[in-house]
Amino acid sequence: IRVAILISGRGSNMQALAETVAAEDLPVDICTVLSNRADAAGLDWARAHGLHADVLAHREFGSRDAFDAALRARLDALAPDYILLAGFMRVLGADLVRHFEGRIINIHPSLLPVFPGLHTHEQALSQGVQWHGCTVHFVTPELDHGPIIAQGAIPVLDGDTPDTLAARLLPVEHRVYAQVLRWLAQGRVQLLADGRVSVAGAA
Ligand code: GRF
Repeated sequence: IRVAILISGRGSNMQALAETVAAEDLPVDICTVLSNRADAAGLDWARAHGLHADVLAHREFGSRDAFDAALRARLDALAPDYILLAGFMRVLGADLVRHFEGRIINIHPSLLPVFPGLHTHEQALSQGVQWHGCTVHFVTPELDHGPIIAQGAIPVLDGDTPDTLAARLLPVEHRVYAQVLRWLAQGRVQLLADGRVSVAGAA
């Protein structure tokens, strides 16, 4: 399968996915690593590891719609089977999401549907939850509310700060996203009519 990975910064999730593809020789062609910011550190990593790296600077577009139209054209030219958002900090417009219906996947650092939006670790701490985690889900026009493919959970420990929580969660994000990519490569992820996801033969 062909996947495009979209990042905005460090790109540690993208790195984990690329390393999994290489280490396990998955039948996955990462056709591009695209960032909306030219200074994204993940772009340097991608280039250094022989991946196609691209920038579509949202600042150069007069409107969200214009950016989305350019992104759509850039992605259509590559014809990816899936578009994996990995620390991509732009909200995609409904038209773009509908155009790629069922092919855009995101990782969100909370156990959705709890704590959609930003500052999820702060939300978890302020609500006093005892379990936090990440969610890999299909992207739909409604932000952070698409069909859930996989989740990973971590305990919230006494004395946790947003930083310690984020640090404990990050390797779990990498493991969960890599597992989803394996399933995608095996063609086992199915979006059901009722909006839930089934993974054929999931262990
Ligand atoms: C991660 O916590 C991810 O869940 C969120 O953005 C953060 C950045 O991740 N979406 P990365 O290192 O850029 O992949």
